[in-house]
Amino acid sequence: MSSSLSIRKVAVLGAGTMGNGIAEVFAIAGYEVRLMDISDEILRNALNRIRDSLERLSKRGELKESVDTILSRITTTTNIATAVEGIDFLVEAVPENAELKKNIFREADKYAPSHAIFASNTSTIPITELSETTSRRDKFIGLHFMNPPPLMKLVEITRGKYTSDETVNITVQLTRFLNKEPVVVNKDVPGFIVNRVLFRVMLEACREVTQEGVKIIDLDAMARNVLGLPMGPFELLDYIGLDTSLFIVKAMTERGFRAHPCPLLEDLVNKGKLGVKSGEGFYKYPGPGQYVKPKVLPDQGLDLDPVKLMAPAINELAWLVREGVASVEDIDKSVRLGLNYPWGLSDLADEIGIDNVVSALQYLKNVSNWDEYEPDPLLTEYVKSGKLGRKSGAGFRNYPEVEVRKYDEILLRIDPPAAWIVFNKPDKLNVLTPRMADEIVNALRAVEDDSRVKVVVITGNGRTFCAGADINQFQNASPIQMFKAMRHYHSMTLEIEYYTKPVIAAINGYALGGGLEIAMACDIRIASEDALVGQPEINLGIIPGAGGTQRLTRLTNPGISKELILTGKQVSARKALEYGIVNKVTPNYALEFEVRRWIKELASKPPLTLMLAKYAVNYGFESPIWSSLNNEAALFGVAISTKDSQEGVRAFLEKRKPKFVGE
Ligand code: COA
Repeated sequence: MSSSLSIRKVAVLGAGTMGNGIAEVFAIAGYEVRLMDISDEILRNALNRIRDSLERLSKRGELKESVDTILSRITTTTNIATAVEGIDFLVEAVPENAELKKNIFREADKYAPSHAIFASNTSTIPITELSETTSRRDKFIGLHFMNPPPLMKLVEITRGKYTSDETVNITVQLTRFLNKEPVVVNKDVPGFIVNRVLFRVMLEACREVTQEGVKIIDLDAMARNVLGLPMGPFELLDYIGLDTSLFIVKAMTERGFRAHPCPLLEDLVNKGKLGVKSGEGFYKYPGPGQYVKPKVLPDQGLDLDPVKLMAPAINELAWLVREGVASVEDIDKSVRLGLNYPWGLSDLADEIGIDNVVSALQYLKNVSNWDEYEPDPLLTEYVKSGKLGRKSGAGFRNYPEVEVRKYDEILLRIDPPAAWIVFNKPDKLNVLTPRMADEIVNALRAVEDDSRVKVVVITGNGRTFCAGADINQFQNASPIQMFKAMRHYHSMTLEIEYYTKPVIAAINGYALGGGLEIAMACDIRIASEDALVGQPEINLGIIPGAGGTQRLTRLTNPGISKELILTGKQVSARKALEYGIVNKVTPNYALEFEVRRWIKELASKPPLTLMLAKYAVNYGFESPIWSSLNNEAALFGVAISTKDSQEGVRAFLEKRKPKFVGE
């Protein structure tokens, strides 16, 4: 029989929001609970709130027993000796005041049986310091529930300096009996896991608003629309309460959490604007306690940078892991269950690329001058040893499914649901040769029937996408040789343009001449901020020969196309965006993450229909409108004949997410 099964009687000291929620959780799990507070009125209110909450759970069919049976397990008292008499486990949840907590523990220690474990639900006071007031330091532990305890799955279990392994094991088992998910925090660090991660995000959000003039609603919109978070940072601060948030972050900073304060938060608290509970915080609500979700448009915030917002939290992940505070798995679990993030921080870090996270932190450190943005040594060590995240097959986690095939001039990296074709002559700025063109075609063919691959990305290794055709091939070349070479490049670009899956160009630097011509044959172009694009052939006495005169004209217009081709000038990624040559521009360090977002988006669509849509646009563009419309109608007919179209329509009507199979 496990030791935690010997726990029967539990005392919960403090019947505020957390205390009554914790008492409810224990009672649901079958424990006998004594709930203590300083007045009968508080206790009566607490029991009423527990009854309300149980009734809600019961209506949703989440209780195995009747509300009355569960409530009958909770008795109340205002006397600490009565509260702890004969108990096996104690949870303290009184207000966050160290002296108050210490007094309570001192008293409880006098009357509680010596075998009883003491746990504190504190979020800000060191567990070790509290344990020192008792004669049972080895049986003293942190047990931090998330608010509201009956609904939130996560519990942070924190080891104090003296906590025994047995106490940790019993408490872990006990939380499982409570139907909660425990994570073990091996060192008594301020903020444990969840608050440390949360405030990294909040404080960076605050910095972007105060230092960069980003709009609060736009930043929240980005967090929701781009990162998929259930709430933006400011929305969440309002929800938690600005006074509570300020109190937590101050307590953490005083205990050594390196951070700069958020003046916005202090201002609002000074004005008595405390968030949802006072009716106004970062947002205005209809009245105190009346939460209404701030409305954002589906494309709002898309120009803000998700990597910058999250890089400090990833730095925190690295710190927690390197310091041995918690495992990667437990930190991921904490953000998923404690913050309702749709992914773990390690997944996010590996998708952004550890090298990119380091660059983002260096950028942040430069613009803010804040020491806390110094990249953690664990991250720089990963970069040095080539652990760059998903793309290298390993980062915080391992990705055995990522496979690299080497050709002479390119790499083909299969990283489901995408395949990445990577120009691989960084020293020669990835110049295009007939051999490279053949290899691109071969790589495309190699993954055409691979059902794991839904999208292809074309990008360059090093600082360049591709600086164009190898100029050496033009020396003393005959017209016929060049005619053939250009035909060669045309078949490669046509292969991309009419490929059966979407192709994204990730323009990571110069895309000149043939480089831009390859990018323009792709379906979507995403460029890093420092990329430069152009058709410089005129400077060599030649003209674009791999489709530049045609595709540039079709993407822009004859005026802009001639401007670029006749002058041979290079234009910045931002200008290229304005001209319609690229779809999106991101900071360099965010390019990989942005491309992965497009991959996920496209991979969630019906694959055959993607192909048909691409053909309707591409073939249609080349024909008079009568034949194009006829072609569109015919392709519509093909689309409706797929299983996926039936699934898409059915899923819409059944209000669920469609499952496309590519048939
Ligand atoms: N063909 C052959 N070699 C090329 C090349 C091309 N299109 N573009 C760059 N390279 C080579 C350079 O000769 C150099 O080789 P080296 O180290 O052996 O001397 C190497 O790549 C690095 O280029 P470099 O010019 O030193 O880099 P940079 O940062 O100073 O300039 C560019 C970068 C892209 C602006 C410049 O290389 C350039 O203008 N390239 C030609 C672009 C072009 O005209 N393309 C159209 C061809 S049709």
